[in-house]
This record gives sequence, structure tokens and C-alpha cells, in this order.
Amino acid sequence: MIWDVIRCPFVQSGWREEAFVSTMAPGAGATRLSPARDVASLLDVLRRCSLLADSREDRDADPVSILQHGLQCAALLAHARPEDQELQVAGLIHDIGHVLVPGDIRNHGRHGGEHVRRLLGGRVADLVELHVPAKRFLVTIDHRYKESLSLASCRALVTQGGQLLPLEVEAFRAHPAHGDAVMLRRADEAAKVEGLHPGTLEEWHSVLEALAARHAVA
Ligand SMILES: [Fe+2]
Repeated sequence: MIWDVIRCPFVQSGWREEAFVSTMAPGAGATRLSPARDVASLLDVLRRCSLLADSREDRDADPVSILQHGLQCAALLAHARPEDQELQVAGLIHDIGHVLVPGDIRNHGRHGGEHVRRLLGGRVADLVELHVPAKRFLVTIDHRYKESLSLASCRALVTQGGQLLPLEVEAFRAHPAHGDAVMLRRADEAAKVEGLHPGTLEEWHSVLEALAARHAVA
């Protein structure tokens, strides 16, 4: 079981999500990226993530490919929140922005979120987009969290804007998905275990199809 292998700070610390009322506009700052047409095209993007290791100079020095990182992240979230497939899928795809717009570390969450918003819905897109502000939020409110970051993640933090200003902290807390975004972020940091392969991308195919079908009729 992945939980036997991966250190999971949000379980160990007894972390629980909190609910807040939204004041942050979902999808603010939309990109001009073309949206994912269908699940097949999204799977193609994810397969390309297997070719992009986090050790590339434009990413960071983590030891797993972005696809393996996403699979580990999704598995952690599936264990923590087995009923929440949107959160799990957000964990799976949260770093696709690195493939969509290589080198744009600061905006990779936004690129990924906008790519899937039409296909998978606003909540998944918001969670993908918020995983970067969630890191900045945690660094701001929890000094121990920064010590848990990998060297690479710490280096990227500078590019991503560093700590939030007080007003930005309040805006983040006001987003209805902020608690889940923090949970995704904690899993994100834990999902960098070299040699751990929690399932395959194909195992997520039916989940992605189900989410896309749900949003196609919504
Ligand atoms: Fe990540």
C-alpha cells in the first residue's frame, strides 16, 4: 500500500480541511491555451508527462517523472478521500502545465487548470490552478512546511512568488476549494518517491471518462 511507503504529512499531523466562503474568482487569469478536446487528448498529454522528468533544469531536481509524480499523488488522495474522484483526478493531472507550456513554472497550475476546465469541470480546474497558491499559502502560515519542501520545490517557490501577502492569504482562505487544494498540495510534496509505481495511467481512464461524461451533460 502506498501509504506504507510514502510519508504523508497531512495524515501524520492530523490535518483536516476547513470550509470557507468563496470570494476568489475561479479561473481568474485564463490562458489562451486550447482546451482539452476529450479524454483521449488529455491522456496523450499525460503520456508526454512520462517523458518529462522532474530533474530537468526547467522543472526541479525531484527524482520521478511528472507522470509518476501524478500517479503517486492521485493514489495518496484516493486513500485519503476514496469518494472524491475529482480531487484524485486533480492530483493526477495537477502538473500537466509543465508539458503544456514548458518552462513556465510560475503559471503551470493556471495552464493546467484552463486546459481541463471545459472537459472535467470547474472544481477540478480550480484545484489544479490552486495547487501553486496552496504552496505559497502553506509556506506563509506554517514555517515547518517550508522545511518539508524538496530542494527543487523550494527553488521553484521563488519563481512562483514566495510567501503570500496578508490580503492574499485571506483571498485564498475564502476560496471554497482551498481546503482541498491544501490537501492536494500536501500529497504533492509526498508524491516524489523514486521507484514507487502505484498503478498505471490506464487505470484512471474510466475515471476520467466518467468525470468528462458528468460534465458533458451538466
Ligand atoms: Fe506536483
